[in-house]
Amino acid sequence: MMYYEEDIAEALAGQPFPMIGEEADRLGLETYVIGGYVRDLILRRPSKDIDVVTVGSGIELARAVARRLGRRAHLSVFKNFGTAQVKLGDSEIEFVGARRESYRRDSRKPIVEDGTLEDDQNRRDFTINALALCLNDGRYGELVDPFGGLDDLEALRIVTPRDPDVTFSDDPLRMMRAVRFASQLGFDLDPETFDAIARNRERIAIISKERIADELNKIMLSPKPSIGFDLLDKCGLLELIFPELCALKGAETREGIGHKDNFAHTLTVVDRLSRTSDDLWLRWAALLHDIGKPATKRFDYKLGWTFHNHELVGERMVPRIFRRMKLPMNEKMKFVQKMVLLHMRPISLADDEVTDSAVRRLLFEAGDDVDNLMKLCEADITSKNPEKVRRFLNNFRLVREKMAVIEEKDRVRNFQPPVTGEEIMAAFGLAPSRPVGVLKEAIKNAILDGVIPNERDAALQFMYDRAARMGLKRVESLNC
Ligand code: CTP
Repeated sequence: MMYYEEDIAEALAGQPFPMIGEEADRLGLETYVIGGYVRDLILRRPSKDIDVVTVGSGIELARAVARRLGRRAHLSVFKNFGTAQVKLGDSEIEFVGARRESYRRDSRKPIVEDGTLEDDQNRRDFTINALALCLNDGRYGELVDPFGGLDDLEALRIVTPRDPDVTFSDDPLRMMRAVRFASQLGFDLDPETFDAIARNRERIAIISKERIADELNKIMLSPKPSIGFDLLDKCGLLELIFPELCALKGAETREGIGHKDNFAHTLTVVDRLSRTSDDLWLRWAALLHDIGKPATKRFDYKLGWTFHNHELVGERMVPRIFRRMKLPMNEKMKFVQKMVLLHMRPISLADDEVTDSAVRRLLFEAGDDVDNLMKLCEADITSKNPEKVRRFLNNFRLVREKMAVIEEKDRVRNFQPPVTGEEIMAAFGLAPSRPVGVLKEAIKNAILDGVIPNERDAALQFMYDRAARMGLKRVESLNC
């Protein structure tokens, strides 16, 4: 990675920068683009939101810029914070006056005073986020970098501009941000910065769950999420924010029999899955797929280590974890639950002979999520034994092929019962009662087991036969 002045010049040649510069000059305000936008420009990463800092009133500059843009722009002013935002299309420009901040120990609310550009850069989280580009005439495009942010970008290093204990104590969310940037950008944490996180980790308690979840989601969406989770573990944050994941750590040996370290395994699965899917919730499913293992771990003298029903226990843990972490309690959570519950099924399928009926049942239970489930299961094969891996992947290929054939023939992926409960009641003059449920279930099982095809005629015939054996009398004939 190299810093190219031409890249910067080219980016700043396009609007809105020259116009902001002109307005700043007109008002006599020293003005800079700063923070993540500058960082991403140098790293050649896409970014849309722009932060502008001015030595003076950010609100005054924002008003001038909004006036120039006219009806295309939407201005919001936050007087209490001394900031203003101009929305232009789908990007936002945030204006703020340069400031110095100091914080009290018990709160994230700072005491704010006006300051110089350098004060403003100094109060920021990391040197790579403190780079500023001047927009004023005569200095247009000049990089102001008093803390060596450019060197740190080149060295792929996350380091704070000030004493890291002060930076993290001011705003403990920055500890999560440090790890997140390391994971997102593939950077290293500077050793002193890392040590300060370890020292200050308890301060994470004053940060809202939502903000922590935001950072976790960003770690989850990074190219190799294990980088983030490993760092969270090593600096001691993980046990505070995600004890269930920490509980997966360790490999115990008894009678000479060991089991794998489920934490390391889980992270490998998340990384492997991340190569084939960028779906945040499927990645969460990978992170949580073995979360029920510590609670179900037993040592059996015949079988060795077992984790019976860990998928059921895991499924029940998902809503508790989501609620505590303030993750959504909606269909996303249900999807993760379903993946955790079903993650053993294709493996046990591929272990035995792959019968049509087992494949049909899996298609029925997974529905449209079956492709995601297969991706998760393929990522779950982390064995170091190449023979084993080959056998599993080969069986998965077989399962996939069978699925395609059966789906084509029986369409059970989004199964709708061919005879409804109301129809069964009408046919035999029944009130809602047990025999109705028994008949319905019998029809469903007959289809899933391949006894009858997934068709209405066959289902009705099957229903009449079964009802007769149950001693039920037909009072009305149903249409085929
Ligand atoms: N910042 C900070 N401390 C924080 C949050 C933000 O010092 N806890 C500063 C950094 O200089 C950062 C800028 O505010 O670059 C903008 O913050 P934000 O938009 O949250 O982050 P970005 O760095 O732009 O990165 P991303 O958009 O990926 O979150």
